[in-house]
Amino acid sequence: MKNKSLVSIHDITKDDYEKILNLAEKFEANPRQKILDNFVVATLFFEPSTRTRLSFESAASQLGARVIGFSDASTSSVKKGESLKDTILTVSNYSDVIIMRHPREGSARYASEVSPVPVINAGDGANQHPTQCLLDLYSIRKTQKSLENLHIAFIGDLKYGRTVHSLVIALTHYNTTFHLVSPVELKLPSSVKRFIKEKNLEYHQYTELEEVIPKVDILYMTRIQQERFADSLDYERVKNAYILKNKMLENAKKNLRVLHPLPRVNEITEDVDSNPKAYYFNQAKNGVFVRQAILATILGVNISN
Ligand code: CP
Repeated sequence: MKNKSLVSIHDITKDDYEKILNLAEKFEANPRQKILDNFVVATLFFEPSTRTRLSFESAASQLGARVIGFSDASTSSVKKGESLKDTILTVSNYSDVIIMRHPREGSARYASEVSPVPVINAGDGANQHPTQCLLDLYSIRKTQKSLENLHIAFIGDLKYGRTVHSLVIALTHYNTTFHLVSPVELKLPSSVKRFIKEKNLEYHQYTELEEVIPKVDILYMTRIQQERFADSLDYERVKNAYILKNKMLENAKKNLRVLHPLPRVNEITEDVDSNPKAYYFNQAKNGVFVRQAILATILGVNISN
């Protein structure tokens, strides 16, 4: 992965995932070490973010790197009509790695092709979110002690949810049984389901949430992605399709953990937050250690411990 872009979860192997997760464990034990003090990290966010941008910036800062960039493209020369190519070529003069979120699918791949420095995809439209995927794998492994042979439910917007797409593909390496819960119009795209079928793994599709809860080890809740709908009436029809409430977890397995890439809107009620099975804020915290591991690996810096 050294000096390479990370655009899609397809860009890296199962062996790479495990190296990143193992390195992230070391950063979790010691997150403040000045190993990137010779580096400049650029964060270019053409779409809103809280966790991805700030956890990358925190990860880089704790390792001593300097961080430049923008969180709102309307404050950059994009507002004057500058192309993505010109923005990337310019920022690559100022930084050693570019972390980019963009609403257009394929934009991160394009940026990686024109950039002389590695590009890390922080989400491109409804396509992929590979660094979220790695922190999700880390969170699953940490809570379940293994990634193998788990029953994992994905709930909500499986059509537009880029975190779902990346994570489903990664989990096909671990003999996962998939439980896919969505409204009919937001089913997992066949382009993603193909990877489950290629591995001959079991998957089950549902429209109701409650029957799935007692069967699974992980409930991966997702937000219905309002910004991806062309017609607001279509969004209104499905926006409250699934709302997880604390009492619904009464018959869950002891080891079940609730994950959510966040932000949540109203798909998990706040009474779940104090349930020991709620793991989504810990999951967001894990993002710092996993992104430290990704930055150190791509920038080719080793740690001694
Ligand atoms: N999980 C995630 O991508 O969150 P943000 O949109 O806040 O970055």
